[in-house]
Amino acid sequence: MAHLSSLTAAFFSMLLLLLTIQSKTSSAIQLLTSISATNSPWRSSDDLILVSTDHVFAAGFRSSPSLFAVWVYNSTNQTIVWSVGIPLSSSLAISSSGEASLNDTSGHNIFADAAKSNDTKLILNKDGSLVLNNWTSFDTPTDTILANQPLPSNGTTLASSNGKYQLVNATNLVFNNSASYWGNGNGAIRNFSSDGKMFSDGGNWIASNFGSKRALRRLTLDTDGNLRLYSLRRSGGWRIVWAAVQEICTVKGTCGANAICVPENYNEPSCVCPPGYRWTNVEHVGCVLKTGFSGGNSKFLRLDFVTFDKGPDTIDRTPIAFADCQSMCLANSSCAGFSYKYNGERYCVQYSEQLAYGYWSPATKVVTYVRVASSEKDVSNFTGMTSLVDTVCPVNISLPEPPKDSKTTVRNLAIIITLFAIELLVAVMSFWAFLRKYSKYQDMARALGLEFLPAGGPKRFSYAELKAATNDFSNLIGRGAFGDVYKGELPDHRVVAVKRLKRVDTGEAEFWAEVTIIARMHHLNLVRMWGFCAEKHQRMLVYEYIPNGSLDKHLFQQRGTKEDAIASPERPLLDWNIRYRIAVGVARAIAYLHEECLEWVLHCDIKPENILLEDDFCPKVSDFGLSKLANKENMMTMSHLRGTPGYIAPEWVMPNQPITAKADVYSFGMVLLEIVSGVRNNEFRQSTLMSEDWYHPKWAFEKVYVENRLEDILDKSILDKYDDREHFALVERMVKTAMWCLQSRPEMRPSMGKVAKMLDGSVEIMEPEKPTIFYSNDSH
Ligand SMILES: *[C@@H]1O[C@H](CO)[C@@H](O)[C@H](O)[C@H]1NC(C)=O
Ligand SMILES: *[C@@H]1O[C@H](CO)[C@@H](O)[C@H](O)[C@H]1NC(C)=O
Ligand SMILES: *[C@@H]1O[C@H](CO)[C@@H](O)[C@H](O)[C@H]1NC(C)=O
Ligand SMILES: *[C@@H]1O[C@H](CO)[C@@H](O)[C@H](O)[C@H]1NC(C)=O
Ligand SMILES: *[C@@H]1O[C@H](CO)[C@@H](O)[C@H](O)[C@H]1NC(C)=O
Ligand SMILES: *[C@@H]1O[C@H](CO)[C@@H](O)[C@H](O)[C@H]1NC(C)=O
Ligand SMILES: *[C@@H]1O[C@H](CO)[C@@H](O)[C@H](O)[C@H]1NC(C)=O
Ligand SMILES: *[C@@H]1O[C@H](CO)[C@@H](O)[C@H](O)[C@H]1NC(C)=O
Ligand SMILES: *[C@@H]1O[C@H](CO)[C@@H](O)[C@H](O)[C@H]1NC(C)=O
Ligand SMILES: *[C@@H]1O[C@H](CO)[C@@H](O)[C@H](O)[C@H]1NC(C)=O
Ligand SMILES: *[C@@H]1O[C@H](CO)[C@@H](O)[C@H](O)[C@H]1NC(C)=O
Ligand SMILES: *[C@@H]1O[C@H](CO)[C@@H](O)[C@H](O)[C@H]1NC(C)=O
Repeated sequence: MAHLSSLTAAFFSMLLLLLTIQSKTSSAIQLLTSISATNSPWRSSDDLILVSTDHVFAAGFRSSPSLFAVWVYNSTNQTIVWSVGIPLSSSLAISSSGEASLNDTSGHNIFADAAKSNDTKLILNKDGSLVLNNWTSFDTPTDTILANQPLPSNGTTLASSNGKYQLVNATNLVFNNSASYWGNGNGAIRNFSSDGKMFSDGGNWIASNFGSKRALRRLTLDTDGNLRLYSLRRSGGWRIVWAAVQEICTVKGTCGANAICVPENYNEPSCVCPPGYRWTNVEHVGCVLKTGFSGGNSKFLRLDFVTFDKGPDTIDRTPIAFADCQSMCLANSSCAGFSYKYNGERYCVQYSEQLAYGYWSPATKVVTYVRVASSEKDVSNFTGMTSLVDTVCPVNISLPEPPKDSKTTVRNLAIIITLFAIELLVAVMSFWAFLRKYSKYQDMARALGLEFLPAGGPKRFSYAELKAATNDFSNLIGRGAFGDVYKGELPDHRVVAVKRLKRVDTGEAEFWAEVTIIARMHHLNLVRMWGFCAEKHQRMLVYEYIPNGSLDKHLFQQRGTKEDAIASPERPLLDWNIRYRIAVGVARAIAYLHEECLEWVLHCDIKPENILLEDDFCPKVSDFGLSKLANKENMMTMSHLRGTPGYIAPEWVMPNQPITAKADVYSFGMVLLEIVSGVRNNEFRQSTLMSEDWYHPKWAFEKVYVENRLEDILDKSILDKYDDREHFALVERMVKTAMWCLQSRPEMRPSMGKVAKMLDGSVEIMEPEKPTIFYSNDSH
């Protein structure tokens, strides 16, 4: 018997050995949920990682660079959320007396302050904190915090992994420990909760999809200097749900001295030199003057929408007139240029020899004049300010003449003929080869910048290209006030929505300038524009294609509009949390247009048709900026022609009332009411024409605030899913905000920025007043 059992034991130990060898050869990684003295030492070469009990987080050694880190095991890219730099081939040791040691690159034991016990073990909690007795990785965040992890409140609280950017005092984002480019107006950020609510000293706000506690989130200071909140998708990728900086080029230190940061395609920062400057390889220096200037032998080149930092060496001469600003710069031999704002402020700033942190943004409304030698032949390609903005100074800004079609053709043809002539000497070419070469040279001419293009502009498509992409405009997917939308596919397989604009009578150059500005408006909740087409009378815009369709298709599906030629498949009903998220997202996008862009862009056509939904119902506002393309005098008539009177603010039909950003606020209020009620305002109107309650906002107000029957105004189709405890707060916030937006007097309505804050809960909402129509004295 004893013989047999020892044999069995031998067999099993053999098997175990085999298994171990097997696991070693197939390099299967051993997963442990705790590390104690028995596993010590843990060498960086061991195929071992520590995991949280739910396997969402993992911790261990990482190579290149050599780190001891905590990462999201569950994410495709194994994203690191905490780390410490260590020397190559390090190890983590826990002695039998309970002392732990892991030396960082400076030789300091990271567990030096930890308490000792006879039961010391390293564990990774489900919240992502690495813990050893009373030591926790949550106390020393690197570039990321997780839900419920407190941010240290003073000193450098987070630092980007490349060391360039810091979050200081949990309030300010700075470059190189000094140059601040973003501050949280509300004071120090404290932490965020697992449902995506951000806690800060001055107030809390909802940064993410409210209600869903299941998503894993992280707040990371990225290497490009932006602070972003990410949610983990089921696919293992990350979705950005909130970002501190909207215009990435306002982040300092992206480009070297004298260079200008220009947002390309999708808000990718790209660095260019001002005209008259060239690139240099000297570290931290971007561009240098091609030709030096001395006193009188200099001139200025104009850069629209470009501004540089008001550093210590700049002289703020505001307020002086433009001519004085210019002559004072000319008089100072160390003046490298000056900036001027054409808004009546008489803002004048002079720069010393080095220009720092330059960027292009229409929000600045600033024009910078760089000083170059008189002999300089470069011309500025930063153009696009098309109108003088209420200036008190007698200065005209005009756009350079658009390239004449004929002229460019002649020029291109000249080049082609020259090149072609050389080719002819070399070989006899067939007709087909000639044609192929011709188009190639045309592309070359384009690439060489012979075709006038504003710096870093969106891609220009030819009519033929878009005709091919949309299969001769055969797949109509939407009709809007500004034009019809067709689905198409570009040769690089990107699926696009092509909008054929109607009633656009702007010139080609003006159209380019405006489109360039629109294309660079960037927000998580705005549809991306990829390009445009301007040929003869054709004006088209090329957008990313958003698959889920527009909000109206989801909100009003039971009633199925007859004129809607496009067959709509059964769509899932939007639940309260999703509706709320859509409302917050749209409010933030419009607030961005109004406020970051200084009312540069009024939307003027906010309605559910213009709110597109992504695959997870993340809202994207479309058609923004188009009102700028429209003829200003036509705007009034256009809004009537649009045939969507359910969203127009009263001032549109009042004589002598200026149209301001508050008109958009009103339209948004109407959309908000529809999101809550699931009923179109104008359909509501028709069905109640005979009664006094024809005005939807007034009716809703009375139901909620007089009769106290909130349920009566809620969408009937999801009323059964309405849970008072869970949804009351957010539905009430939507209704109250809508009531404030729908005040008939524009000055009574909050700004869009305030609306976003009212919705996300960062400000208290006062009891609203009853919305009435057309200033009637309907008091209650
Ligand atoms: C850390 O460094 C100390 C000496 O500086 C050394 O005694 C200790 O063994 C090191 N610990 C590890 C785990 O390498
Ligand atoms: C842990 O406890 C020890 C004493 O037991 C103390 O000296 C140390 O400061 C504590 N460390 C932390 C991070 O709280
Ligand atoms: C170890 O800890 C246990 C309780 O956790 C205690 O009973 C035991 O006496 C301790 N042993 C030593 C040697 O400290
Ligand atoms: C988050 O911050 C708020 C406000 O400072 C605080 O009340 C709350 O306790 C903090 N939560 C955690 C988990 O630290
Ligand atoms: C941070 O604040 C604490 C007290 O709140 C103070 O003891 C500490 O010295 C401060 N640290 C820095 C870097 O200012
Ligand atoms: C951080 O706070 C300290 C004092 O608490 C202050 O001296 C410092 O200027 C602040 N830094 C920034 C970038 O706000
Ligand atoms: C960063 O700051 C240091 C001094 O604080 C300065 O010497 C250095 O030039 C700065 N780097 C850049 C890229 O501005
Ligand atoms: C992440 O972990 C959770 C819980 O274990 C699981 O439900 C989910 O499917 C995982 N996701 C991925 C991408 O592995
Ligand atoms: C993983 O990282 C690579 C390179 O940084 C990136 O291109 C890719 O999109 C990432 N994948 C996911 C799912 O985040
Ligand atoms: C000329 O400009 C430099 C740097 O901008 C400044 O320090 C100096 O005071 C200016 N001189 C005059 C006369 O304004
Ligand atoms: C501005 O333009 C108008 C019309 O083009 C012209 O009459 C006026 O003289 C210009 N003013 C200046 C200061 O150039
Ligand atoms: C604009 O001009 C700068 C400098 O002259 C040049 O580097 C840049 O490539 C130009 N951009 C375009 C789009 O032509």
